[in-house]
Amino acid sequence: MTWEKQNKTKDVHIVWQNTKVTKEDRNQLNGHKSFILWFTGLSGAGKSTLAVEIERELFRRDIQCFLLDADNIRHGLNKDLRFSAEDRAENIRRIGEVSKLFVGAGIIPIVASISPYHADRTMVRSLVNEGDFIEIYVKCPIEECERRDPKGLYKKTRDGEIQNFTGINSPYEVPVNPEITVETNKLSIRDATITILQYLQDNDYIPNKGLVDIHGHLDCD
Ligand code: ADX
Repeated sequence: MTWEKQNKTKDVHIVWQNTKVTKEDRNQLNGHKSFILWFTGLSGAGKSTLAVEIERELFRRDIQCFLLDADNIRHGLNKDLRFSAEDRAENIRRIGEVSKLFVGAGIIPIVASISPYHADRTMVRSLVNEGDFIEIYVKCPIEECERRDPKGLYKKTRDGEIQNFTGINSPYEVPVNPEITVETNKLSIRDATITILQYLQDNDYIPNKGLVDIHGHLDCD
């Protein structure tokens, strides 16, 4: 049975339970907003690398955040999913729903996932309030991703061991209007990290307080 069919047959006798602690209460307690930071891009483009750096930089600024790396989530919550378009859509839907829970909990989810389909990313955007989904396009030419090949997966695809590999024999739909684009073949990890932090600071997603050293010391130095 497809995910769509399962969804249609779900029990509809469910009532929403209201709670008395709001997202705004939690944001006030934490001293910052909560929103989704969503890294998308080809395998090997640098999504996880940058997401790890951003998690560390936000954490050391006393900001509540948590990295949801799709590779890790595929070891647990999404271990039943593979790489058909349908499974990828379900992968993104689940990560999106988990991210929405994090936002409600006052924590910034930092997602690193290829998320190759525009429709899937748009669906996640629609799960949260306007402005609470920040799409970060980690842009890198596929030739460079294949040259890096950190997991050896491009080679395995060329050798016929992997089918449906994104960018080779499965599509990657470039983001139409991402909030942030970082070109990892042109920027250092440090400068890409600063670009993202600067965007968050300039657009009041994270407090200015304590960020005057944004161009100063970073932990990745
Ligand atoms: S997504 O397309 O559904 O968003 P996701 O980001 O969760 O993909 O997982 C991608 C990771 O799975 C890659 O980093 C890579 O390590 C691994 N992988 C294994 N097979 C494939 C494949 N056919 N296409 C892309 N990534 C794959």
